[in-house]
Amino acid sequence: MKKRMPAASDSAIEQKINELLGKMTPEEKAGQLHQTHKSCCSYEDMMAMVRKGRVGSILLWGMPTGRVDDERENAVNEIQRIAVEESRLGIPILFGLDVIHGLRTVFPIPLGLAAGWSRDAALATASIAAAETASAGIRWTFTPMVDISRDPRWGRIAESFGEDPYLCSELAFAAVRGYQGEKLGAPDKIAACVKHFAGYGAAVGGRDHTNSNISERALRDIYLPNFRAAVKAGVATVMTAFNDIDGIPCTASKYLLKDVLREEWGFDGFVVTDFQCIDYLRLQGIAADKAEAAEMAIKSGVDMDMVSGCFSDHLVQLVVKGIVPVEELDRAVRNVLRIKFRVGLFERPYADFNLADKIILCENHKKVALEAAEKSLVLLRNENHLLPLSPDIKRIAVMGPLSESRSELLGCWNPAGRGEDVITVAEGVKSVVSPETTVFTGGGGFEDTLLTTSSKADAVILVVGEHPLRSGEGRDITSLTLPAGQEELIRRVHNCGIPVVLVVMAGRQLDLSWAAEHIPAIVYAWHPGTMGGQAIANVLFGKVNPSGKTPVTFPRATGQIPLYYNCKRNVFGHPSNMQNYLEIARQGPLFPFGFGLSYTSFDYSNLSISPDTMTGNSGIVIAADITNAGEADGEEVVQLYVKDCIASVNRPVKELKGFDRVYLKRGETKTVKFKLNEADLAFTRSDMSWGSEPGEFIIWVGPDSERGLQGSFVLK
Ligand code: BGC
Repeated sequence: MKKRMPAASDSAIEQKINELLGKMTPEEKAGQLHQTHKSCCSYEDMMAMVRKGRVGSILLWGMPTGRVDDERENAVNEIQRIAVEESRLGIPILFGLDVIHGLRTVFPIPLGLAAGWSRDAALATASIAAAETASAGIRWTFTPMVDISRDPRWGRIAESFGEDPYLCSELAFAAVRGYQGEKLGAPDKIAACVKHFAGYGAAVGGRDHTNSNISERALRDIYLPNFRAAVKAGVATVMTAFNDIDGIPCTASKYLLKDVLREEWGFDGFVVTDFQCIDYLRLQGIAADKAEAAEMAIKSGVDMDMVSGCFSDHLVQLVVKGIVPVEELDRAVRNVLRIKFRVGLFERPYADFNLADKIILCENHKKVALEAAEKSLVLLRNENHLLPLSPDIKRIAVMGPLSESRSELLGCWNPAGRGEDVITVAEGVKSVVSPETTVFTGGGGFEDTLLTTSSKADAVILVVGEHPLRSGEGRDITSLTLPAGQEELIRRVHNCGIPVVLVVMAGRQLDLSWAAEHIPAIVYAWHPGTMGGQAIANVLFGKVNPSGKTPVTFPRATGQIPLYYNCKRNVFGHPSNMQNYLEIARQGPLFPFGFGLSYTSFDYSNLSISPDTMTGNSGIVIAADITNAGEADGEEVVQLYVKDCIASVNRPVKELKGFDRVYLKRGETKTVKFKLNEADLAFTRSDMSWGSEPGEFIIWVGPDSERGLQGSFVLK
């Protein structure tokens, strides 16, 4: 391994930036703000532009990435060599790639990771993704995506951490630290990019790339805290969102990019747009042409143009004509160079393929992927303790459309994952059952075979769900039912009279209302990644006790959405209004936020709040005893919810304010403590100021958003 170079200190970096800026021509400055992609030009033209210093970054999506994609030539080092050795100033290219949930070692999709409710897993998986990516010469990734997702029709919910601002903020903070470390600059770390700033997940009707209607208060209370958390963690870059908010496209929002991000939060990295967003200002009807779009974007605070070419084609002229002050151009260049210096690109511009060979998909990375996948599995139903199955079971059928799938387990957005690396559910099961067990597989596509074989087995593991192409960007759906034919399949297998264990893989929560009534055991597996099949088998056969909890609310029917636990108070539940509602609309969720079963049971007792009055800056401590009262060792995600009883605005019925994962041996009791400060109770008050209001607060400590020990305290 190469010698570790210390990251240059901040003032030394600023000095280097000044020196470099002094030497740059306007064209070279505009070049640093230009990100190109293979869809923009030929490979030869790209090289020529790099040689002339007209490119600051390359989006590698769909391009060869060295040994991680070794059938093709290694583009990274060759392009970098031209930038470093043949361009006038030798400024290296910052390669960027969407390593959303792992490079070659693929972890659960972010929504699955969120179901793990584990800061440690978020940190560990991001660290590994960073190390693999850095070794391939790629020092920038466009993650974490922290868009609050309250609408499962939206395909990109798969890439999110779910519906809750607190859970999302905690995981975003951990992920940024995982990618970047505490201070950017180590050779195995890369720059992260929090996205999409802001409110992209609120796309109307769950239709990707549409508009978002978000009030200023909802923006501040629900959609921005996650970005704030990423900035606090030191995130190097921020990506603007495609959408507008209240008519202002985020890529032209001085309010978001300058007032909030820079002024209020003190962000000093750089802002990149989403794909072609500057040019999209024309489509959004606020810019007449590309030059005007470039002007609006740079003046609003955008630093780098992702592939639209508006900056590279127009910025120099805009400055020459005096339309854009040179200070705006210099500001953007400074921000970009700052991150290039911080990430260590000048010291280590190249990929280290010897290192890549050693670490990519190594045993340790696979182990972390396995543990993350195990944590992400949510046991939704387990009638009569059907699970765990005995490894000594005589005959088990592993069937259904995803039972022997490989690449499908990797989920959406994986740039270098390979199906051949994946353990299927059928393989996982074979590896955990006794040698005497007969495992029936096959029949995925042949229903007759499946039904005949199933009926010979003592139990059936039926693996259904979404193909990854049914989730992700632009993959919105109008009905949350399983893909065509799958529920019918479940019914027919169920009718064979054999106990059915249903495993559902998906990029979103689906409508499982029929299965939840009839199928005795259901495990929700999201898209679990490279080690997913092994993780599922380990849980089904009790090698691992499931501990995942839903990071989103599961509705009973599509028509119920948007349905999320932290809604505002309303008159819906008042008895005098109940008679007007039809059955499903009136009912609550199928599975609430934070829900997940275990093979053991946990008792909650001895809630204490001390002191029971919060004054000034002194916080309170909320404690409860959690006892493993069942027969197996296990982990519980203990959750703290808070309700602000009376406030100057209508506040949520409850809000998650803390969670902790505790491992308890059979019979063991542990005390879980949460600290709560006045700042944790802050919100946007009626006069739009940020802060808390005195009064009574109810708290719950429990296993999900609907149950728990209840207490209260007063804020003076
Ligand atoms: C997506 C971004 C992504 C970018 C680059 C866009 O279409 O919205 O999330 O980072 O492409 O691949």
